[in-house]
This record gives sequence, C-alpha cells and structure tokens, in this order.
Amino acid sequence: LRPKDLAGLRLLVSAGPTREYIDPVRFISNPSSGRMGFAVAEAARDRGAEVVLVAGPTCLEPPWGVEVVRVESALQMRQALLDRYPWAEAVVMAAAVADYRAAQVQKEKEPKAEEEKTLRLVKNPDILEEMGRDKGSRVLVGFAMETQEGLGRAREKLLRKNLDLIVLNYVNREGVGFGSEENEVVLVYKDRSEALPRASKRWIADRILDEVKRLKGGV
Ligand code: C5P
Repeated sequence: LRPKDLAGLRLLVSAGPTREYIDPVRFISNPSSGRMGFAVAEAARDRGAEVVLVAGPTCLEPPWGVEVVRVESALQMRQALLDRYPWAEAVVMAAAVADYRAAQVQKEKEPKAEEEKTLRLVKNPDILEEMGRDKGSRVLVGFAMETQEGLGRAREKLLRKNLDLIVLNYVNREGVGFGSEENEVVLVYKDRSEALPRASKRWIADRILDEVKRLKGGV
C-alpha cells in the first residue's frame, strides 16, 4: 500500500469528452473514455488527497471517495471547473474538451432534407488557458495529443497556458491512448522532457501525481 503522501491536497481533475449538441438528439464529440482522468482521481484519493472530478459523459463507474460532477458540454465543464478553481491547490486537466461547438443549437430535431448542409461552429473557450491566467501558487497539469513530432507544439502549449507540466500522448500508436487500458506518454516541462515506459493508466497517474507533489514542494 502506498503511503498517504498527498494527504489533504485539494485536487481538481477533469476527464472524458465533451458533447456539443447540434439539436436535441445530435452532438459532436470524440472517443475519449475518461480512463486517464479517472485513474488520476482514484490514485490521488488512495494517496489521501481530497478530489473533485469533473467528468464528461463516460461509462465508467464513479470512484468512491471522490466528489464527481457530471457535465456534458465544454461550457458546462468550464463552469464546473471555474466554480471549484478557487478551492483547488492543483489541477490535472485530462478532459478532451471539444474545440468547437455549434454556433446555434436547434430547438427541434433537424429534418433530413437538403443533399448538403453546412454547420457553423464557434470556438470553445480554452479552460486551462483561463485557469493559467489566474494561477496563483497552484500546480497546473495539462494533456496534449499530438502526431509524431509533437514535442515542440506541446511545449508551446505549456508556455501559452502557463502550465507546470504537459503530459504528451502520441496518437496513432497501437494499444495506447483513447479508450485503452494502457498509455505511453512523455512528461514535458519548460526546459526538459522525460519519456515514460508504456504502462497502465494507473501507473502513469501515480507518476503524474509524484510530479504534482514535487512541484508543490513536498519533495
Ligand atoms: O490546445 P489543446 O486542446 O491541445 O490542449 C490540451 C489541453 O488543454 C488539455 O489539458 C485539455 O484538457 C485542455 N483544454 C481546455 N479547454 C479547451 C481545450 C483544451 O482546458 N477548450
């Protein structure tokens, strides 16, 4: 059993996809399972942290001993996170927030008529960037999903969003990432990076929390 080395740490975690509705029965989303964020929430709970988990739609069981706030859209996720932000000492933002939402949500189900249809989208606010502008002494951890040479882009995000750490996932790798039990990530800091071996999401969650602890100054 791990020691309660995060006892009392107030940790805010996000997980899962968001759903951006077009009409009452259709939405835009992505295949995020929520597993990485849930693993972080469970690992932190086991190490004694107080955890609030803001989760988009997933089929995962809510973890015991964690306060779970369920949301659907990016705007709802933003509100739920910003409500808890003043309370939090550290944030791990594992949610796959949709970049865009429908400019207008139709009140009625859209009829099937024209051969071609255009959907106008507007950009969602970047929640993590907003949190980064009011960082205080918090530790902020983001995730990034990139193809191949993503290290530079991940570091650019780290700086733009004022983060301490970005967990970089490479897309298009067999057996890792979206929906799978395992993951293979690179921890990206301002001045260095560290590739972790392929491992369970729970093991990676504990490594991320080791970094949160170190960045908080608790060794
Ligand atoms: O810019 P990009 O979407 O690649 O950044 C990914 C990181 O930013 C993730 O931690 C994600 O949860 C967060 N994010 C956010 N709000 C958005 C988009 C992404 O907080 N609208």
